[in-house]
Amino acid sequence: MKVTVVGAGAVGATCADNIARKELCEELVLLDIKEGIAEGKAQDMMQTAALLGFDTKIIGSTNDYTKTAGSDVVVITSGLPRKPGMTREELIGVNAGIVKGVCENILKHSPNAIIIVISNPMDTMTYLALTSTGLAKNRIIGMGGALDSSRFRYQLSQHLGCSPADLNAVVVGGHGDTTMIPLIRLATWNSAPVTKFLSEDQQKQIVADTMVGGATLTKLIGTSAWYAPGAAGAAMVEAIVRDEKKLFTCCVSLNGEYGQKDICLGVPVIIGKNGWEKILDFGLNAEEQAAFNKSADAVRNMNDVLKTL
Ligand code: 2OP
Repeated sequence: MKVTVVGAGAVGATCADNIARKELCEELVLLDIKEGIAEGKAQDMMQTAALLGFDTKIIGSTNDYTKTAGSDVVVITSGLPRKPGMTREELIGVNAGIVKGVCENILKHSPNAIIIVISNPMDTMTYLALTSTGLAKNRIIGMGGALDSSRFRYQLSQHLGCSPADLNAVVVGGHGDTTMIPLIRLATWNSAPVTKFLSEDQQKQIVADTMVGGATLTKLIGTSAWYAPGAAGAAMVEAIVRDEKKLFTCCVSLNGEYGQKDICLGVPVIIGKNGWEKILDFGLNAEEQAAFNKSADAVRNMNDVLKTL
């Protein structure tokens, strides 16, 4: 197996680090446009191999896509991260050009790769990757929901005083502060509905804190978060390379599912060796479906901006 991570910033490097530690592939390429940064970080990570005991070979590359040739999975993290006070949506103009160019270069050398998109605004960048490449829809997956669901489980665990690993909870819809929908009604703590253990106020707080999870960290750190986004990307790579058939909420192309078409949005999907393999219908109630439709409208407005670039 060969995996490439494009963008050696904090998210890309963390994603690569997780992939190497888990030995998800024999060869891992870290590529960045900035001279030396990918080579440097790749070497730094390789110097942890003796300590951590992994065998994955990490290769750094300054924009030389020939090194990425034959990749089975490619994670795109390139583009500007958001600064405090900035929405993910404000990045669209700059990041659209970057993501489109990266997709072209990747596919020249890895025509069969499955592409995971992390760059923001993630729903629109996933849609752009799909429409600009014309690839089969199952090969393009946006990471947002995997990250937001993990943040949701964290918030729930804080109120329940339990392990996040014991929680099942998903966030659907867009990967935006106002477009994501933490499905608290369906969240469970080892099969028991979490709503049984939380007051109405706690539930509202958990949902609100989950939605601004990324913004809260951006404010604290001064730039976009990287540990959870990188780990979410690596978890998706793992599901693909190990053909795990694992359920994630991810941003995928909808063709009537959840009442939406011609859009990429977060829904529960099975991920395995073919990319996303199946969309699951969680049966949203009227209120959740209305929120999903509103989220779709907001993402569609953003997608429309692509036409003006
Ligand atoms: C976040 O929410 C990177 O969009 C990502 O932190």
